[in-house]
Amino acid sequence: MCGITGYVGEEEAAPLLYNGLKRMEYRGYDSAGIATISGNQLVVKKDAGKVAEINNYLDFLSMRGKIGIAHTRWATHGGVTKENAHPHVSCKIDVAVIHNGIIENHQQLKEALKADGHIFNSETDTEVIAHLLEKHAEKHKDSKRIVLETVKDLKGSFAFLAIFASDPETLIGARKDAPLAIGITRRGNFIASDILAFIDYTDRVIFLDNREIAVVKQDKVQIYNFAGRPVQKQITQVAWEAKDTSKAEFAHYTTKEIHEQPQTLKAALYQDQDKIKRFVEAVKQSEHVNITACGTSYHAGLVLRNLLARLAKIRSGITLSSEFAHDAELIGPDSLLIGLSQSGETADLLSAVADAKKKGAEVFSILNVVGSTLDRESALSLSINCGPEIGVAATKSFTGQLAIAYLLAFSVVDDMRRLSELRNIWKAVEEVLKQEDKVVDVADKYKDCNDFYFVGRGLHLPIALEGALKLKELAYNHAEGMAGGELKHGTLALIEEGTPVVVLNPEDETYDEMLSNASEMKARGARIIGVSNKPNQIYDEFIEIPKVDKLLYPLIEVIPLQMLAYHAAVLRKKDPDYPRNLAKSVTVK
Ligand code: G6P
Repeated sequence: MCGITGYVGEEEAAPLLYNGLKRMEYRGYDSAGIATISGNQLVVKKDAGKVAEINNYLDFLSMRGKIGIAHTRWATHGGVTKENAHPHVSCKIDVAVIHNGIIENHQQLKEALKADGHIFNSETDTEVIAHLLEKHAEKHKDSKRIVLETVKDLKGSFAFLAIFASDPETLIGARKDAPLAIGITRRGNFIASDILAFIDYTDRVIFLDNREIAVVKQDKVQIYNFAGRPVQKQITQVAWEAKDTSKAEFAHYTTKEIHEQPQTLKAALYQDQDKIKRFVEAVKQSEHVNITACGTSYHAGLVLRNLLARLAKIRSGITLSSEFAHDAELIGPDSLLIGLSQSGETADLLSAVADAKKKGAEVFSILNVVGSTLDRESALSLSINCGPEIGVAATKSFTGQLAIAYLLAFSVVDDMRRLSELRNIWKAVEEVLKQEDKVVDVADKYKDCNDFYFVGRGLHLPIALEGALKLKELAYNHAEGMAGGELKHGTLALIEEGTPVVVLNPEDETYDEMLSNASEMKARGARIIGVSNKPNQIYDEFIEIPKVDKLLYPLIEVIPLQMLAYHAAVLRKKDPDYPRNLAKSVTVK
């Protein structure tokens, strides 16, 4: 969840690394730091806080040196303090390390290193890596060898970068269960946890695999496995461009990404027909289809499951990736596991995938980041092609995943009419975006309510869950999404005068029952916020969406819920792009 980046080349490293930190801040943003080497001297600047704030007094940009590493932190071990911020250095301050992941045996390692006289300055698991590197440097001169010896000692997940004062031309990265990619330019090379860290400078990338180290110099990149044997790698040209990462005229990435959805939906539906055919055939032929994902992607998975059942009569199971290990007894060689993920790097999902592959299952995926670990672990993957999503809360990636879920389900049953409606759904999304003023009104009226409920039935239930998640993430209001029929089994007891309830009620087979639910709640004092194509006097607030094919409503009714969460956050003076305690890419379990 932390962002890590390093550079070695002809240029001054600090400005490039600082830019990378700002690009990666969405991965974690409680502390930041940079280490560079100038001459043979290692210099570290770091503190708790946001990158730009820290730069105001530490002046990262003035750091000298053509090699350096930089880190933006999302705390796992140790509080948010200057001492715990990365980079971490060894006792002699001749090695600096940054790390993403968790070193599971750090306690034992720390005890042993302390007994050897090493002095620790932080509460992090990462610091053991710096001391281990120093320890192995006593016996070995070659930086590559020192890193290879060090990774033998480590248990857990890690992507780390190291620089050595004694070897100022070499940047080394090691990967096990956390992503690392190398960015190649004519004037130097980068290693980072995320291509966004260097996308301003290059689109030529080498993705590291597990148990590999990269030894990177200004004009040379060598990859080895943990046994020290050289590995040949392809350079991939990634499709993202630097302009995709700007906020353009928008105040925040989140609102920019919400407004991009008419275009990103079109992009998601632009797929290689051959891949779609293979996906569809596998779904039809498979004995067991299982779906797994986390967070917002899980909600898209719920829609996929519902569509496969209702349209194609295909029974599929769905499991939260974090629960997969406890609930996947049925996975076996006959299973097809479909993983959904924006990042393709979510640790719980990758562990579910590894588990399923061990049991002989085939893994397919629907993802955004091509080249991500999930992509490389999948026999077949479809990209939602929505470009970089920087706002921590998923928005355009969710509708992209939904679009592919519809594309697959309609293709399974050859529903050409609906496929053609799907291709035009972006027009309805444009219409819904015009409702923003109404949504701002609603956000303003209810923004400080303690509890919100989002209610829907059938295909609207996953959207109710997603609406509640968005509000929690962005505006920090307590919110729950639930099935209309479940209200009377508990939640009605919580409805009191003024409780806002968002009712997802476009005209389909759930319409009348949802109106009854709305009446039950209104009779107990709830304020009903109706999202529908049809007005009704029961709604205290009405957010109108256009009439579309009844199966397609989820794709458009989620838009006002995203806008509601965004505007509630802004009105409550919360930063919607960087919600507290959350990270975009959860690469630790
Ligand atoms: C984090 C993000 C969510 C996202 C979830 C799953 O919690 O904040 O927005 O839905 O991870 O991420 P993935 O990249 O696998 O879709």
